[in-house]
Amino acid sequence: MAQDEYMPIRNWDHIEFYVGNAKQAAHYYATTFGFTPIAYAGLETGVRDRASYVLEQGKIRLVLTSALTGDSPISEHVARHGDGVKDIALEVPDAAKAYRQAIAAGARSALEPTVTEDSFGQVRRSAIYTYGETLHTFVERMDYAGVFLPGYKPLDAEPAARHRGVGLAAIDHIVGNVELGKMDEWVKFYENVLGFTQIIHFDDEAISTEYSALMSKVMQGGHGKIKFPINEPAQGRRKSQIQEYLDYYGGPGVQHIAMITGDIVATVRQMQEQGVEFLPGLSSYYDELEGRVGKIDEDISELQKYGILVDRDDDGYLLQIFTKNVQDRPTVFIEVIQRKGARGFGEGNFKALFEAIERDQALRGNL
Ligand code: FE2
Repeated sequence: MAQDEYMPIRNWDHIEFYVGNAKQAAHYYATTFGFTPIAYAGLETGVRDRASYVLEQGKIRLVLTSALTGDSPISEHVARHGDGVKDIALEVPDAAKAYRQAIAAGARSALEPTVTEDSFGQVRRSAIYTYGETLHTFVERMDYAGVFLPGYKPLDAEPAARHRGVGLAAIDHIVGNVELGKMDEWVKFYENVLGFTQIIHFDDEAISTEYSALMSKVMQGGHGKIKFPINEPAQGRRKSQIQEYLDYYGGPGVQHIAMITGDIVATVRQMQEQGVEFLPGLSSYYDELEGRVGKIDEDISELQKYGILVDRDDDGYLLQIFTKNVQDRPTVFIEVIQRKGARGFGEGNFKALFEAIERDQALRGNL
């Protein structure tokens, strides 16, 4: 059976972070990454145990959630993992069917199909566990016409918020880090439970620096819209950056979220002006760039100024850059990517990217 008949997925629905202080995190993503706060749930809306802020930019929806008391599972999650991604929620046409199929294929249940409603209509949701304590919620939006989900009230963004948008348009891929030896287990999970197919495999030869290595396989579903690379650490002379993540996250979890822009130079310039910190490029990288990728539309000196990397494959090229970690633990970060035909993940940049990460890893005393 074709994957999209077995498990139809319309698109990304939203990404929910559990964080220590959602009010402040929402302000950070709004003022630096240019997201617009659009909805809120908390004591004022009848939610007793948490506060959640929904932020939007292009088609990307982030939800930032904090516990209101110390004995909440959200507090335990934050104590163990720090701020991190709890839920990669996917929009599906039938949340009950998606759940049935996933459970029958061996997934662990997190939420049985449940309908919630308010005056704007109904939403049916269900959820399963993926790696670590991370969830995939299946969201079936039925006839729902409200701002986000039942229980949320719209937030009137202050007018300034509209001008901070940096052109982030959609999610491209979300990467998970899993333990040594576990990558293939999760590849099987995405094949069996979600009907995904493996599109790429990078071995530790492809992704290694002088010091450390990792392996990665990319799973794809939802008519090609949903892409999940899965990394595991590999043996190197020093500690793999994936192992550093696992040590500080306290197990497997989301490493980075890649967001698409149509104009990476403008996006990154504005993000830097608004205070986002990126991994810097090395001048030697730009000296060799044209020889490696050939002619490109962008001015290489501008790319160098912002630290933007370029890679070419058979279909075209792509431009990409990684932010520094977006919390104190060396765990989650954001990638900004612009695709000009290329469908890969920047294989030609892995070495440069990972060396940049290792320079920071060394500063942390973890290399
Ligand atoms: Fe990526």
